[in-house]
Amino acid sequence: MAGRFSGKVALVTAGADGIGAATARAFAQDGAAVVLADINDALGEERAEALRAEGFRARYMHADATDEAQVAALVRHAVEHFGGLHLAANVVGDAHPDSAGPDLHTQPVEAFDHTIAMCLRTTFVCLKHEIAHMVESGGGAICNVTSLAGMIHNGFGGAGYGAGKAGVIRLTKFAAVSYADRGIRVNCIAPGVTPTRAYYKFGDEYAKILIDEQVAFQPIKRAIGTDEQAAGIVWLCSDEAAMVTGHVLPIDGGWTAQ
Ligand SMILES: NC(=O)c1ccc[n+]([C@@H]2O[C@H](COP(=O)([O-])OP(=O)(O)OC[C@H]3O[C@@H](n4cnc5c(N)ncnc54)[C@H](O)[C@@H]3O)[C@@H](O)[C@H]2O)c1
Repeated sequence: MAGRFSGKVALVTAGADGIGAATARAFAQDGAAVVLADINDALGEERAEALRAEGFRARYMHADATDEAQVAALVRHAVEHFGGLHLAANVVGDAHPDSAGPDLHTQPVEAFDHTIAMCLRTTFVCLKHEIAHMVESGGGAICNVTSLAGMIHNGFGGAGYGAGKAGVIRLTKFAAVSYADRGIRVNCIAPGVTPTRAYYKFGDEYAKILIDEQVAFQPIKRAIGTDEQAAGIVWLCSDEAAMVTGHVLPIDGGWTAQ
């Protein structure tokens, strides 16, 4: 498949749904062979099959991004099956429902720990194993996913999510500087209001209220598409961004510009 990523292999965590699924599709449409990783096996297999049916090279693999052994196996799988690993999107991240909202003094520590693990541990574990391969193979480009909640106060996500996502930004910059002389670029996007299943898990009615309430904070008054987030990830991983590393790209309709 011709395209900017022709001959390259991309790994996308949380690839079964939402921003991850859109990113896997965008990499494939631009010529990469793609490994989608997730814990939702039925949906992940379905996404990979849909991409293959359109003539793209895609495989699904189960990998819980909090589990180091599974992530190590995932990187090995991408390399063994497609012959390398050049691009990676570390998309997994979430907040425990009990760690949401502005009041941290009422929240269980376990909910905080879970949220930090989902945002920060997953990003560290993925970076560790992707970079271990890229150092040996001569380089690559990685994009993490933070949130506007990692940049500014945001009562919606809560303290754990804000702290975890702020940590993703620091990890991104740390890795960017550490590996700049070894041909590895590391950036992140910071999404704003992007309706995905994460919004709809408490019902359609609740999701609509939440989306409207959050979009009201954005200068550009509409929700953001998963394809618009994917476009940022793919650009940051492309050669057009060859001199961009350690960057946080907000795709948030101007929320954090205020
Ligand atoms: N949607 C938004 O508005 C928004 C805003 C800011 C930041 N983000 C961030 O973007 C990223 C993607 O969010 P989304 O809304 O597309 O999510 P989503 O809920 O649509 O999809 C998340 C996917 O992650 C998978 N997953 C969950 N736990 C996993 C694990 N341990 N290992 C591997 N896969 C796992 C799920 O099965 C699912 O397929 C997250 O890091 C999120 O924090 C999203």
